[in-house]
Amino acid sequence: MTVFGIIGAGHIGSQLARVFTRLGHEVVIANSRGPETLAGLVAELGPSARAATAAEAAGAAEVAVVTVPLRAIGAIPVEPLAGKIVLDTDNYYVDRDGRIPALDRGEATVSGLLQAHLPQSKVVKAFNHLYAADITTDGSPAGTPNRRALATSSDFPDAVRFVTDLYDAAGFDTVDVSPLSESWRVERGRPAYVVRENRAELEASLARAPRTV
Ligand SMILES: NC(=O)c1ccc[n+]([C@@H]2O[C@H](COP(=O)([O-])OP(=O)(O)OC[C@H]3O[C@@H](n4cnc5c(N)ncnc54)[C@H](OP(=O)(O)O)[C@@H]3O)[C@@H](O)[C@H]2O)c1
Repeated sequence: MTVFGIIGAGHIGSQLARVFTRLGHEVVIANSRGPETLAGLVAELGPSARAATAAEAAGAAEVAVVTVPLRAIGAIPVEPLAGKIVLDTDNYYVDRDGRIPALDRGEATVSGLLQAHLPQSKVVKAFNHLYAADITTDGSPAGTPNRRALATSSDFPDAVRFVTDLYDAAGFDTVDVSPLSESWRVERGRPAYVVRENRAELEASLARAPRTV
C-alpha cells in the first residue's frame, strides 16, 4: 500500500484517485480552491481518500502526483516533496499555459521543467498521453493481446520501476523513454499523443517523433 499525494484534482487527478483507491492505496488529494471543494470527490472515493491543501498532500505523500496546468507548477511545494518520486502528467498548451520559448525551441521538456522546480525529487513522466477517461476504461490484464502501452521517463531508475509496476496494476504495458531529456517524444503533438497503441506501436511512434512541433 502506498500513500499517494495528488496535487490537482481535475480530469486526471480525480481519475488517478479512482484507480489508486481501487488498487488499495491511500490518496490525499488537493486542488487550488481548498479541501472543502473536494467533498463530493472524496465521498465518492471512500474512506481511503481525504482532501487536503497542496502542502499537506505533498507532505503526506509517499509518492506524489503533479497534475495541474503547466503554468501552475511554480506553486507546487518543493521541500515536502524532497527525496520522493513525483509522477508528472502535465502537458504544454500555449493557449492555457502561455508561451514557453525553451519548449518551443526544443531546448527543454515539460517534465524537465518540473524536475528543475523540484531538484531533490525524482520526477517521472506518467499518464500524460492518454485521455483522462481512458485511465479507468482502457486497462486490461497483463498478457492480454494488443494491451495498451503507456510511456514513462525519468532520470531515476527506481521511479521508472515504480511507474512500470503501477501501470501494470492499472492495466497497461510500459515503454521506458528515459532519461527525462528524451521525454519530449511523448509530449503533445507527437505521434504517440492520445493515441491508443500497444507496446510495439508505441515504441515505433516514440522512435519517429520529431523534436519540435
Ligand atoms: N484531461 C486530459 O485528458 C489530460 C490527459 C493527459 C494529461 N493531461 C495534463 O495533465 C494536467 C492536468 O490536466 P486536467 O485535465 O486534469 O486539468 P484540469 O481538469 O484543468 O484540473 C487541473 C487541476 O489542477 C488544480 N490546480 C491548479 N493550480 C493548482 C495549484 N497551484 N495547486 C494545486 N492544485 C492546482 C486545479 O484546481 P482548481 O480546480 O481548484 O482550480 C484542478 O483541480 C495538465 O497539464 C494536462 O495538460 C490532461
